[in-house]
Amino acid sequence: MKAIIFDLDGVICFTDKYHYNAWKELADKYGIYFDEEINNRLRGVSRMDSLDIILEKTDKKYSAEEKEAMAAEKNASYVELLKEMSPKDLSDEVKSTLDELRRRGYKLAIGSSSKNTKMILGQIGLGDYFDAVSDGTNITKSKPDPEVFLKAAEFLKEDASECLVVEDAKAGIQAASDGGFKSAGLGEATEHPSVTYKMNGFKDLLEICK
Ligand code: BG6
Ligand code: MG
Repeated sequence: MKAIIFDLDGVICFTDKYHYNAWKELADKYGIYFDEEINNRLRGVSRMDSLDIILEKTDKKYSAEEKEAMAAEKNASYVELLKEMSPKDLSDEVKSTLDELRRRGYKLAIGSSSKNTKMILGQIGLGDYFDAVSDGTNITKSKPDPEVFLKAAEFLKEDASECLVVEDAKAGIQAASDGGFKSAGLGEATEHPSVTYKMNGFKDLLEICK
């Protein structure tokens, strides 16, 4: 392995609660039922696909324009919440593991569905840290499609077979597997049948990537 591609939300930092609060505010406004279980289904899923999942709980049909406006409304609340993030939201375990992997000579990249990736990296003090960032702004198909990871490998000038993808979402493990990557899973991602390495915590990468 020459490079490691990290998912952002749920791997490098934790934005689940901000996504939940912003979607909940939108759902309440439109009278749509929303809970933590539905929020868990949004992991790794793009903003518009997330909205479609939320709208499963209503019979009302919304036009494409209305859906764009709803997604923009959610994102505006979400971005306000992201402003509360700071380098304190980057754990010592994650930072010291990343530093050690870099010291061992691995190229490090991000592969995230989020269009807010660069803002989040800036908030947590990793704005210039990674060798490449592939995110929701450079893809047309979200995970489980492998596009976001294939782009990251292309940016790094490495073959997929030489990169490890680190993920917390089952959709991300599927994307890694379909793209020809090895994968390391955290949390529910360990349950995916195609996951290569199951991790208990981020620092397990130091055993996987010797
Ligand atoms: C992923 C999150 O990283 O980004 C998803 O796991 C989210 O929950 C997706 O829907 C898109 O995020 P954004 O910031 O572009 O709305
Ligand atoms: Mg994730």
